[in-house]
Amino acid sequence: MSLNVLAIESSAHTLGMSVARQSGGKIEILSNCSAKYPSLKEGYIPRKLAEFHAKNTRALLEETVSKAGIKFSDLDFVAYTRGPGMGHCLSVGADIARALGSALSVPAIGVNHALAHAEIVRYLSGAKDPIVVYVSGGNTQILCLEAGRYHVLGETLDMGIGNFLDMLGRSLSLSPPDAVGVLKLAAQPDCKYVPMPYVVKGMSVSYSGMLTYAQKMARAGAARKQDICYSAQETAFAALCEATERALLLKQKKEIVLCGGNGRNRRLSQMLGLVASENGARLCLAADEYLGDNAAMIALTALLMAGKDAPKKDADLGVVQDLRMDSEPVYWIRKK
Ligand code: FE2
Repeated sequence: MSLNVLAIESSAHTLGMSVARQSGGKIEILSNCSAKYPSLKEGYIPRKLAEFHAKNTRALLEETVSKAGIKFSDLDFVAYTRGPGMGHCLSVGADIARALGSALSVPAIGVNHALAHAEIVRYLSGAKDPIVVYVSGGNTQILCLEAGRYHVLGETLDMGIGNFLDMLGRSLSLSPPDAVGVLKLAAQPDCKYVPMPYVVKGMSVSYSGMLTYAQKMARAGAARKQDICYSAQETAFAALCEATERALLLKQKKEIVLCGGNGRNRRLSQMLGLVASENGARLCLAADEYLGDNAAMIALTALLMAGKDAPKKDADLGVVQDLRMDSEPVYWIRKK
């Protein structure tokens, strides 16, 4: 008995679609396709992103099913991201799922995007009982799994680490004008560290003060752009590492799951790897394609939610822009 699901991810700038199969208790990702709206100086305008998603839907749907080597009639159910994300963008994904489910006479279910970020890395890395470090544009959270639910131990008190780096890249007019531009400059061999505001409160971090400070430095010409980028990155990651180490020690865990788009940053994974090894723990990673926004994580989580059988009816249709990882039970994980 196998279960095939097609998932749609449309929470922000990426339209993703994926087919995954569960067979014999194992989940296999058969295809993971995407179309990404380009990073522009104007930033992301939700209406334009939603139009982009709608325009790319048909071609991506056909590509995803074709790459999976299945037919539409092989699908047992459909899943989509119900939140968190931008309302306009989420609605496109929900509409596609409802229409596809209706056309194929199969159920459609909504999946928590934040939870899916954690679950794909936890599942693929074989982590059993981790501290989760979830880092993306709008999110920076440190969580642990207890009593069948992810609990937030600490988080950013203002902006997510990805948005912090994106805004820094934009205000320094880097190319590209985002976190990638910051990371490119920060990797220059002659970068020098200049002190930046460093905020860790309990297991939470704060980045807005550092952004203002870095912008002021750049305007005053007080440091080179690459030194600002390098110093901001090192300081932001160091604060996150300290908060993670506090969580690891408090909860006596031996695994750190790094998930979310900023998990692709090699400097961050290197620093968290040190935190893990210095505490006798393991850093659990997944391939880059499963860290940024992707539909494979929605497909995999939908299959975990379903268990052995396809859902009997539609569930959680609609969208919730401010859904959090700790807002629902992770009932499919059985701890010893
Ligand atoms: Fe995301």
